Amino acid sequence: MSEREAATDEREELRRLTSAVGAWLEVARASGAVGVPRSAARRSAASGEPTAAPAVPSARAEVAAPAAALPQRAAAKPVTRVSPPPVSAAPGAAPPALSDRGQGLQALEGEVAACSGCGLASTRTQTVFARGSGSAGLCFVGEGPGADEDATGSPFVGAAGQLLDRMITGMGLDRDEVYVCNIVKCRPPGNRKPEPAEIAACRGFLERQLALVQPAVIVALGATAVHGLLGTGESITRIRGNWKLYQGRIAVMPTFHPAYLLRTPSAKRAVWDDLQAVLRQLGRPVPERKA
Ligand code: URA
Repeated sequence: MSEREAATDEREELRRLTSAVGAWLEVARASGAVGVPRSAARRSAASGEPTAAPAVPSARAEVAAPAAALPQRAAAKPVTRVSPPPVSAAPGAAPPALSDRGQGLQALEGEVAACSGCGLASTRTQTVFARGSGSAGLCFVGEGPGADEDATGSPFVGAAGQLLDRMITGMGLDRDEVYVCNIVKCRPPGNRKPEPAEIAACRGFLERQLALVQPAVIVALGATAVHGLLGTGESITRIRGNWKLYQGRIAVMPTFHPAYLLRTPSAKRAVWDDLQAVLRQLGRPVPERKA
């Protein structure tokens, strides 16, 4: 590796670590699991975010305590309903270096392409692994490939994908700087929902994929993505807009699937609220929403 590549790796690793700590702390704070220092609480009050009390010296120490013993949040007006996420760990281990990550993802994609772990292998045209780079620290997870994705090998290229792209650019981000993948990597026939056994067969791939990408925030698109990532059966209507944690350390924002938005345009307002929260979480500017 050249000196320049090594420096890029280090910068990227530092950015991801900082972002992971910020995301973890924000989600833990929003869930009531930890307090925040006064300065952060003042910032929250100024921005209308929920405030928390009292400050704790070390978030890591606080989170190690059993959930029942954790301090309750002070009464505050929450921006979104938040229920306690499964806080079980401090921010994750350092992510793999960029070059290792690229190689790891490439190798994993090869494994996925050769997979015959469930019945979907016999009906797919090809597997659909991912698109984008994840350099923004942001990952969108959908349900599974449809006909267009099965034909092209790339996720979210059909009508729902085009709406997802507009959502991404509406956030002020480039389509290629976010990482996009699905709960299952093969198209369920007739675009039906993937069955629990199919989701289970693909889970290991998704876990390894996310461990390599190490996003600071995951946006879970629709009920299947929420259930596949978090294992909860809570309805998407109830859970959307509420920060959760994936594997106890990556912030997850559940929101509606773009295919649902195509059928129900009135839900776009709620999704924009969720995406704004994601941008704040990432420390990104929040653009004005176009009418
Ligand atoms: N819907 C999804 O959930 N994923 C895709 O890749 C396309 C449509």
